[in-house]
Amino acid sequence: MDLSKVESFNLQIAQESLGAGLTLLNHLGDRLGLFRAMAGSGYLTSEELAGRTGLAERYVREWLSTQAVAGHVDYDPDGGSFALPAEHAVVLADDSTVAACAGEAEAMAAMWLSADRMERAFRTGEGIGWHEHDPRLFSGVSRFFGPLYQMSLVEQWLPALDGVVDRLRAGARVLDVGCGHGTSAILMAQAFPASRFEGVDYHAPSIEAARQAAAKAGVEDRVSFHTGDAADEAAGPWDLICFFDALHDMGDPVGAARQALAGLAGNGAVLVVEPAAADRLEDRIGNPVSMSYYASSTLLCVPHSLSQAPAHGLGAQAGAVELRAVLTEAGFGTVRVALATEFNLVIEARR
Ligand SMILES: C[S@@+](CC[C@H](N)C(=O)[O-])C[C@H]1O[C@@H](n2cnc3c(N)ncnc32)[C@H](O)[C@@H]1O
Repeated sequence: MDLSKVESFNLQIAQESLGAGLTLLNHLGDRLGLFRAMAGSGYLTSEELAGRTGLAERYVREWLSTQAVAGHVDYDPDGGSFALPAEHAVVLADDSTVAACAGEAEAMAAMWLSADRMERAFRTGEGIGWHEHDPRLFSGVSRFFGPLYQMSLVEQWLPALDGVVDRLRAGARVLDVGCGHGTSAILMAQAFPASRFEGVDYHAPSIEAARQAAAKAGVEDRVSFHTGDAADEAAGPWDLICFFDALHDMGDPVGAARQALAGLAGNGAVLVVEPAAADRLEDRIGNPVSMSYYASSTLLCVPHSLSQAPAHGLGAQAGAVELRAVLTEAGFGTVRVALATEFNLVIEARR
């Protein structure tokens, strides 16, 4: 046995456990408004922060001390006070930039809450539907993907497709399948006011959240949402049908893709945005993006897919080869990776 290998692996696992504890405290700081209360407020004592947030001082003091020891906040020993640096506030107290991380911690809290359910699923092979999770999952995922979509969708992903931006500018009909809280449809509606957008998701509470988000963004005249299953969605014709991080979740991705093909206008396109993944498992080893996506794939995506017939179980690390196979089986004649980024595969499929 190589003892230095034991030592370094022990350190790796200890760091992972440490990260899990801190992530939970970050989530509490987000949920309780502690980070937001600290952002832009300079140095505050635990009494001041407890007063601003209406929380119990003893808990706030321990939380602040943990945040200081971890280097998340600065500590002034003279005043016994703590400050959240502006550079950390954009990560923990603000969802509007690509640096935002609070949504991820929120989704992780939901995943931990499903631990008992997961244990049973491993034993029985049964699925776990998206709707069965704690609601933090839905808001957490939406917050987590929001900044990425804001940065990438209109600027990078749509321009990578053949002629789609021109069509959207001129006025197109677009369907967003598995739309969740509606972020992608709303962003497209803001960028392309001449087009009309429809989002569909089987999860009714997400559809309600999407409707509220569209009203808040002032685009409800051109975006609507309804509850429904991707595999039943035939009404068309659609100029563009999108699946954002959703195709691999579906129990019947081939059926959903087949329905998309049936609903597509003659020269319409299907856009499938999926997590980045090298084609072979051995080439994903050590890649932090793959680690993150595999964790959610095991805890969320595969269980959800197994909960819907025919339980395809594609997983969030399917990669281009398997995704192409799904789309080809559904009947698409042309399938191409239009763009491969650090985080995503952007696939264009046409008749
Ligand atoms: C990972 S979330 C992505 C949500 C959204 N597209 C986004 O990017 O934020 C996957 C979504 O697919 C939806 N979904 C799963 N199976 C579905 C099905 N068979 N039909 C319609 N929606 C489905 C889930 O409810 C969930 O909102």
